[in-house]
Amino acid sequence: MFEIKENFSLKNYNTFGIDVKTKYFLEYSSVNELSNFLVTQRKQNLPLMNIGGGSNVLFTKDFEGYILHSKIKGVEIIKEDDDNIYLRVGAGDDWDEFVDYCVKNGWCGVENLSLIPGNVGTCPIQNIGAYGVEVKDVITELETTEIDTLKKTVFTNKECQFAYRDSIFKREFKGKHIINYVTFCLNKKQIFKLDYGNLKNELKEYEQVNLQNIRQAVINIRESKLPDPETIGNAGSFFKNPVVHADLAENLKKSYVDIPCYFQNTDLIKIPAGWLIEKAGWKGKNIGNVGVHNKQALVLINNGGATGMEVLDIAKEIQKSVKDKFGIDIEMEVNVV
Ligand code: EPU
Repeated sequence: MFEIKENFSLKNYNTFGIDVKTKYFLEYSSVNELSNFLVTQRKQNLPLMNIGGGSNVLFTKDFEGYILHSKIKGVEIIKEDDDNIYLRVGAGDDWDEFVDYCVKNGWCGVENLSLIPGNVGTCPIQNIGAYGVEVKDVITELETTEIDTLKKTVFTNKECQFAYRDSIFKREFKGKHIINYVTFCLNKKQIFKLDYGNLKNELKEYEQVNLQNIRQAVINIRESKLPDPETIGNAGSFFKNPVVHADLAENLKKSYVDIPCYFQNTDLIKIPAGWLIEKAGWKGKNIGNVGVHNKQALVLINNGGATGMEVLDIAKEIQKSVKDKFGIDIEMEVNVV
């Protein structure tokens, strides 16, 4: 039976460490428990939100409804052949513990995604990515409960409509489904993705390129650039890297010869938002309780006691100054509630 907590602080349930309260908080350990709860709460018609590790959310005020947190756990091998292994994993499992488990077993595919905070069930929503890999590359399907109908639904990889930091669960199905299980296909053959510049360089420090060392190299890069949410509240990249038309990038190159450009196709170019924010003078700046990280300008930090509104105000100022300086809109990656 589930227990509902009232006026519950979310400080330990969002990596920004924003101290807001939710009217009700519920943790559930099975799909049945979730369904039972949804049946009873439907009559009340209060807002409802599911959070995983709370690593991609910015709360700007108290939540006048139910915050749900999955504790559905466990890794089950559902299929295996000479090349691949298929794992069905509970939404409530910690993402990095799952990565560690795969690496220890010699299964390839998620090692580049080491040390990303959050849970297995929320990683598909924003299609987490790092060092040349996105989680969409290894997901085969996922199982959800539809909130309104309680229907159990299976989404294939294609049906999730994954894109850069995006999926159908951030768009038309936002707040409509709760993810309960994710199925991954990992490689038993040692096939690595090492093209990302940083990673290649870091790996030169190691005698051997193997799964453990790739994981360690990714951890080292992340620890050198990104603040640990356990000590400094943050939600990773606050903004997405903008994709602009090649003409605009060409124009900017005339004034900024060092602007990093990643071609998406002949017309579209991705520019690192971190670079734009740094050039707009924000890197390392602190305003009140909010800061722009001094090693990666894409990350906003809570220097202690920040409110969500303070973070949001700075984020909007950053957006405006990047727009004024470069004519580029940068979109927030975090879910502002
Ligand atoms: N850069 C700057 N100044 C900065 C930050 C970056 O000039 O303050 C430049 C770097 O010099 C480099 C380029 O921007 O040339 C790219 O930097 P980096 O490799 O750190 O990657 P990113 O594009 O800033 C993205 C992801 C990260 C992910 C890394 C590595 C997004 C929004 N962010 O950052 O994801 O770890 O690539 O793959 O795509 C996250 O989503 O929370 C996250 C941390």
